[in-house]
Amino acid sequence: SIPTVQKKIVLLGQSSVGKSSLVYQFCKGEFFENQEPTIGASFLTKELDFSTHKVSLQIWDTAGQERYESLAPMYYRKAAAALVVFDLNEAYTLNKAKDKIQELSTNGEPNMIITLVGNKCDLERRINSEEVKEYCEENGIMYFETSAKTGKGVEEVFQKISRKFKLPKK
Ligand code: GTP
Ligand code: MG
Repeated sequence: SIPTVQKKIVLLGQSSVGKSSLVYQFCKGEFFENQEPTIGASFLTKELDFSTHKVSLQIWDTAGQERYESLAPMYYRKAAAALVVFDLNEAYTLNKAKDKIQELSTNGEPNMIITLVGNKCDLERRINSEEVKEYCEENGIMYFETSAKTGKGVEEVFQKISRKFKLPKK
């Protein structure tokens, strides 16, 4: 059997930007128009096969509603990667995402892979991608645009992150 690397990853971002929808699309290939807001957090796992090893992702999908905000540090603690999600149609969710990225750079694990994900690219967009890309370049973070609804770009986010998780050196 081939060796497995286990990594914790966490999804953060404003309520309703589509964190749970991204996780369900990635893990199960399902999408729900009436996805309920997450309570506290939910947990799913997914295994990715690379030729030399497997990556087992322990995915923590947090609740974006304000009342759960204080729980976030508990969920990003010891995480190898964070997906900070915003809604391409709601400009204020990008500001919230930037605040979260700032918080992660200050309080998160030093080597945490931070990615910014603009979701709902299937809808009319109200955010200029070029500005977001510039922000990400300046801050050394990866940027993806996705649709949890159509599945566009979703696999790529998790693949690109997981490819960075190597086996520990013997
Ligand atoms: P919290 O759990 O409250 O933090 O919200 P969330 O970020 O998990 O959002 P959720 O996945 O529950 O999605 C919120 C709403 O947006 C639901 O009605 C989803 O069906 C819808 N939605 C999510 N992703 C997309 C997308 O890519 N495109 C479209 N059109 N709708 C989406
Ligand atoms: Mg949710």
